[in-house]
Amino acid sequence: MQTKFSDKVKHLEASAIREIFKILAKPGIISFAGGAPDPTLFPKKELSEIAADVLLNQGEIALQYGVTEGYAPLRQWVKDRLTRQGILNGQDETIIVSGGQQGIDLASKSLLNPGDGVVCEEPSFIGGLNSFRSNNAEIYGVPVQEDGLDTDKLENLLKEHSNIKVLYTIATFQNPSGITMSLQKRKKLLELAERYDFIIFEDNPYGDLRFAGEDVPTIKSMDHDGRVVYLGSFSKILSPGLRLGFVSCDPALMERMIICKQVQDVHTNVLSQMIAYEFVTRCDIDAHIANLRQVYGKKCRLMMECMDRYFPACVKHTCPQGGLFLFCTMPKQYDSKKVMEKALEKGVAFVPGATTMIDASASYSTFRMNYSTASEEEIKIGIQTLGEVLKEIVGE
Ligand SMILES: Cc1ncc(COP(=O)(O)O)c(C=O)c1O
Repeated sequence: MQTKFSDKVKHLEASAIREIFKILAKPGIISFAGGAPDPTLFPKKELSEIAADVLLNQGEIALQYGVTEGYAPLRQWVKDRLTRQGILNGQDETIIVSGGQQGIDLASKSLLNPGDGVVCEEPSFIGGLNSFRSNNAEIYGVPVQEDGLDTDKLENLLKEHSNIKVLYTIATFQNPSGITMSLQKRKKLLELAERYDFIIFEDNPYGDLRFAGEDVPTIKSMDHDGRVVYLGSFSKILSPGLRLGFVSCDPALMERMIICKQVQDVHTNVLSQMIAYEFVTRCDIDAHIANLRQVYGKKCRLMMECMDRYFPACVKHTCPQGGLFLFCTMPKQYDSKKVMEKALEKGVAFVPGATTMIDASASYSTFRMNYSTASEEEIKIGIQTLGEVLKEIVGE
């Protein structure tokens, strides 16, 4: 039988990252491909005690249907935290979602008609790109520079295309580049959003993971016009398996998103929400995050030192101040997909740049490296091995 797929899904590429995960199941592979937290840092003991306690003592709530907006105490905790951090100013509504990924998709569904324009950074996060693709948006790319997306190119795009309704940015410790947008560009972005009347999705799952430099105010914190949809996540600061994220935005848009969420999954897993709430109130979440920052900072510095030592000089890398990724660029003529094939033969995996681009079928000389999951020993061995592969392909 020839299955006739919908227009929404027929053009979607299987995520190369998921494909790589299949290869990673092979024993002995050192992976810099994932985007996952260090599993040794999950607070397993605390979470297992809390889970047992919640089930025993509040099981009637934890195992029952919940409200679509989220478990009220957790929602309030998120709202208070975002307000304390200066991100929210009281006008926005906040809900809990099943991971930041769902937040992106709910916002897309609520705003985008087929053919509406979405501007994405290039490179960008495949989950965001696939959400826009599956909502039949027309996607325009703007390159990411050392201080964030190129606002001049963005302005040219806005002048050229009147269909642009949304701009998607991971302004802080971007996935995949690790780059953080400057304050000046954040202000410019808001100014352009007002002038050309578009909405900004500010996706900030990595913002708490700063290990160097100074905080830069979020775009949302400067938004007085309800133009920014702010997306956050518990995945990188607590556990991705709990599937918890949050969205803050203008109440009218939120109302639509809540209806979309009712259609998708009725509500976020109540047990997960209760476990997270008990964790953040009984344990010291800030101390936990401080520890993550310290470990990731150390691993990132180690990875950069190893790259500087073992990679050919013509392969450049970004220098992130937080988050989980750094991004490498070879001279233009080399295709990172080909490098990955060779690297996999030697037991090392990474994400080729094509996965992070709007046209994933083209050839790119870039690749993403994750430093949070591998151990320090694996980083040393893996980068040395990758250096040998790169030298064979691009020379010294
Ligand atoms: C930029 C970005 N946004 C959103 C997500 C989705 O995170 P969650 O696990 O909260 O769905 C990720 C996960 O890797 C991400 O990198």
